Amino acid sequence: MRPRLQIIVSSTRPGRIGLPIAEWFASEATAHDTFEVDFADLAEIGLPLLDEPHHPRLGNYQHDHTKAWSERVAAADAFALVTPEYNHGFPAPLKNALDFLYREWNHKPVGFVSYGGVAAGTRAVALLKPVLLALQLVPVVQTVAIPFAGRRIVDGRFDPPEGLDAAARAMLDALARHVDVLAPLRSAE
Ligand SMILES: Cc1cc2nc3c(=O)[nH]c(=O)nc-3n(C[C@H](O)[C@H](O)[C@H](O)COP(=O)(O)O)c2cc1C
Repeated sequence: MRPRLQIIVSSTRPGRIGLPIAEWFASEATAHDTFEVDFADLAEIGLPLLDEPHHPRLGNYQHDHTKAWSERVAAADAFALVTPEYNHGFPAPLKNALDFLYREWNHKPVGFVSYGGVAAGTRAVALLKPVLLALQLVPVVQTVAIPFAGRRIVDGRFDPPEGLDAAARAMLDALARHVDVLAPLRSAE
């Protein structure tokens, strides 16, 4: 069975460019032919602000939306976070979606498709990394960072700059390698 890559679309804004960027990345992931792809759009999933009474470590979830999110994340073997940069950080819906769960994230690799202006979303990724480490996610170094991403949207589709396809492939290769290496840690718990 092929490992499952969950692509998380972090921006929930109407008119977000994150959706066409994530769609481009999903087509790269499909063409890479290593992973089953789960396209997880946080706008569609519509989690409320964290409303569980117990610490997520306990897995004692009260709400159907949490149980559904838990099942979906637990089924994933690796993640790609498609994230804009908001005020030099990452969007609140992403933090909220991460905070809902704990074990479901543990010992799984994560890569970034970041975008923004001149900094290409890299400041968002820098702030995201300590949060991911607290969840025992394992960030891979290979990354996809898109500067001035708004200029690359043509008729609602993302037109990648030269070299970005290769960056996506390098990240997908790294995620696949890490899935294998981390598997024993996951089965040990
Ligand atoms: C609340 C907010 C804060 C932003 N802050 C930054 C920022 O710190 N750095 C940056 O490069 N772009 C920033 N931008 C511009 C975004 O990169 C741009 O609007 C992008 O389209 C946002 O992604 P989205 O359309 O997928 O939501 C900000 C945009 C918003 C809405």
